[in-house]
Order: sequence, then structure tokens, then C-alpha cells
Amino acid sequence: MIKALRGTKDILPDEITLWDYIENTGRDIFNIYGYNEIRTPVIEEASLFIRSIGDATDIVQKEMYVFSDRGGRNIALRPEATASIVRACIENSLFHAGGVTKLFYTGPMFRAERPQQGRQRQFYQIGVEAIGSDSPFIDAEVIAMAIKFLEKLGIKKFHIKVNSLGCQKDKASVMEKHKESFRPHLEKLCADCKGRFEKNVLRIFDCKKDSCKVIAENVKTESALCGDCAEHFKQVKHGLDLLGVKYIEDHRIVRGLDYYTKTVFEITQEDLGAKDAICAGGRYNNLVKELGGKDTPAIGFAFGIERLALALAKPSSLACPERSRGKPRASSPNVFIAVAGERLYNEAFRLLNDLRKAEISSEMDYESKSLKAQMRRAEKIGAKFAVIMGEEEFKKGKVILRDMEKHSQEEMDLKDIVMKFKKVGIVL
Ligand code: HAM
Repeated sequence: MIKALRGTKDILPDEITLWDYIENTGRDIFNIYGYNEIRTPVIEEASLFIRSIGDATDIVQKEMYVFSDRGGRNIALRPEATASIVRACIENSLFHAGGVTKLFYTGPMFRAERPQQGRQRQFYQIGVEAIGSDSPFIDAEVIAMAIKFLEKLGIKKFHIKVNSLGCQKDKASVMEKHKESFRPHLEKLCADCKGRFEKNVLRIFDCKKDSCKVIAENVKTESALCGDCAEHFKQVKHGLDLLGVKYIEDHRIVRGLDYYTKTVFEITQEDLGAKDAICAGGRYNNLVKELGGKDTPAIGFAFGIERLALALAKPSSLACPERSRGKPRASSPNVFIAVAGERLYNEAFRLLNDLRKAEISSEMDYESKSLKAQMRRAEKIGAKFAVIMGEEEFKKGKVILRDMEKHSQEEMDLKDIVMKFKKVGIVL
């Protein structure tokens, strides 16, 4: 049997209700803050990500799915969406003169990581990008919106860590400081991290090897921001205070993608175990220019949808566990038509069509089974009503209408059935 690839998963009908809930809640919240949806292709020129994310990063060096297409072009399955959205904005001139272009997205991303709970090779993100302003208010608003999204979903026990990497010049001094901190431990770092020490010392913080993790957790870290960036970060924190967002300042938050400048942040959730980052983001003030656009500051974030779904499946993560959305059932039909006697199948099939034409969700068994088996199925799929067609009733132009929730039933004229459902207002 051919199975799904390692690190990929089918999202089954039973789970879709939860996924819809997550995506629709995101849509509602992002709309309130003025964001519009964008969908970009899952394949892009590999160079887009190499230039944006950085060629010393794990994503580009080890995790990106890259292939040559039939025309010999170097193509990548997108490992994230920020670079694609910036590319789309430049290509389609989506920048608002003097304003902020606010976009949100949801869709699959691909990274060849070692799969584990909460980490997949094809995973889904829901995220936003606000392009066109360096105002610290936007930083505070974007972080507050991420929190609003979590709260609206009903998820609790999350923590926000913020940091500022400063402008491009500051990043160079931040790196120098980190180099000094790591230098005494250089011999104990893995071979990859020795290379990272020379090429991009910040990437040592992303190393997944336990020995390097221990070193990274214990090295001295300090801020090295210029006056402007220090003031910007102060204003971001002031904005967060104004909006009532509780955060921790942590200089170890350096993010695994090179495009970040100034504000960076991560949100973790306590019940997620080792892969506890549910959301991450930050400013990328140089990316638009680097990809060929005008000098345009920007900020954004992305949530991992699998991780949101994992948190929502744990009652301990929910503000209202009694409203747990852990195991929602797939959508149920309003009406199930059960047929007693094979000769009535044509009539039942016609009624099924009439109900659907009237936009009433309805279902029947297509193979002749006993009435008992059909009613069991109606129960199982959660139908609200059953229309039972029996020979005796049918001769009088009647059917039995059974309310599956109240366990009551009545005889009705067959010709009135569609109208009856329209009247009780269960038209979808
Ligand atoms: P990221 O930190 O690489 O940032 O990913 C964001 C979130 O995606 C993570 O916090 C996590 O929840 C989820 N995620 C990442 N990798 C996996 C995986 N292999 N399996 C499951 N979930 C995963 C970005 O992607 C940036 N583009 C975010 C951003 C937007 N920055 C600015 N704008």
C-alpha cells in the first residue's frame, strides 16, 4: 500500500471543522484590523528564499525542497510565505502610497525537518504581513492582534517573548557581541556551529543539537542597539503596555531567518511540549528593497496551524474547556431519507434531488439495506430529521417525518416535505 510521505498528514473530514474554525477565526480577527487575504503559489524560484531567508540558515541549507523543473529552472517548495508575499507586492504594485498594505494568508509550507509531534515536512501557517510603516505602533498592534487571535480561539497558557535585533548596522554589532560570548565555547560547538560562528553567529541559537543548545542557553547576551533602534524598541514596549499585552524581553530571540531587523517576537504555549512555538514574527525592514522594490519597512507573523489544532485539542489549554473543540464531527445533513421497500428508491432519489435543489442538506443510502440499518446510519451521521418512505404511506401520498433529536414522528404529505423544511428554517 502506498502511504503518505513521512512528515505529511491527511487532514481528515473529522478534523476539518477544527481547521475551518481556526482559519475563519483568523479571517474575522484580521479583517477587523484591516487585513485582506492573499494567496501566492506554493512553488517559487529557489533564489527568492535563498536571498530572503539567508544562505547560512538551516531552512536554506538543510530544509528547503529544491528541484529542477523540466525547463531546468531551480524551483523551491515555499518554506514560508513572507518572501513570496513581498515578491507578489513588488510584482503587482500592491503598495499603498503613504499607507500600510495589510495582507493575511493561510496555506501549506514545506521544510525537510525531522518529523515529530508538532513538526512536519508539510505544515500549514496562518499569518499576516503589514508592509509600509516603521511605526512602533504597528509592531505593538501586530503582536496584540496575534494575542487577540489566540484569545478568540480560546487558547490560554501562552507566553510572549520580544527582542530587537536593531538595524543592519546594529545586527553587525549584535553579532560581534555574540561572537565574544561564544568564543570561549568554540571548541565544544558542533562542526556546523563552528561554521555558523564565522558565517552568521546568530544561527548558533537555532542549533538542534543538545550540547550546542546548552551552550546557547547559558551564554551572556546583551543588547547592542543604536540610539534610534533603542528608542524604537522602547516605543514598541510602551505600545504593548498601552494595549495591555504582557511580554518578556529576551535577547536570545534572534529568529531562524536572516531577513529580520529591529523587533522580533515568539509566542509559546505551555501544553505543546518540545515544539512549543505557536507563533513567530518580526520586522523585516530591508527585505522589500533587497528583492528589488523601494525601501519599505514591514512586519508580520505566522502561526503554525497544526500547533494551534494541538492546543485546541487539549482541554487544559482552553479558557473554556467545556466548549472543547477537540473532536468536532464532520458536518451532518439536515435530512436523511430512509426507504422501506426497493420499489420506492426512484421516489426517494427524486425527493433527495428536490431537497438539495432547495439547498437543504440531505442524504440517503444508495444501496438497499434494511430500514433498521438505514435509521442506524441516519443516527450515526447526526441527521436532524429522517423522512421514512414506506409502501403503505406512499400509496396515500404520505411519508413519515421523524425528528431524530426529539424522537417524535408524524405523518405528512410527500408533496409538502420540501416546503416544511423551508418553513422550519433549516435551509443552509
Ligand atoms: P517561522 O518561525 O519559521 O517563521 O514559522 C512560524 C511558525 O510556523 C512557527 O512558530 C511554528 O508554529 C510553525 N512551524 C514552523 N515550522 C514548522 C514545522 N516544520 N511543522 C509545524 N509547524 C511549523 C516564519 O515562517 C516567518 N515567515 C514568520 C513571519 C511572517 N515573519 C514575518 N512575517
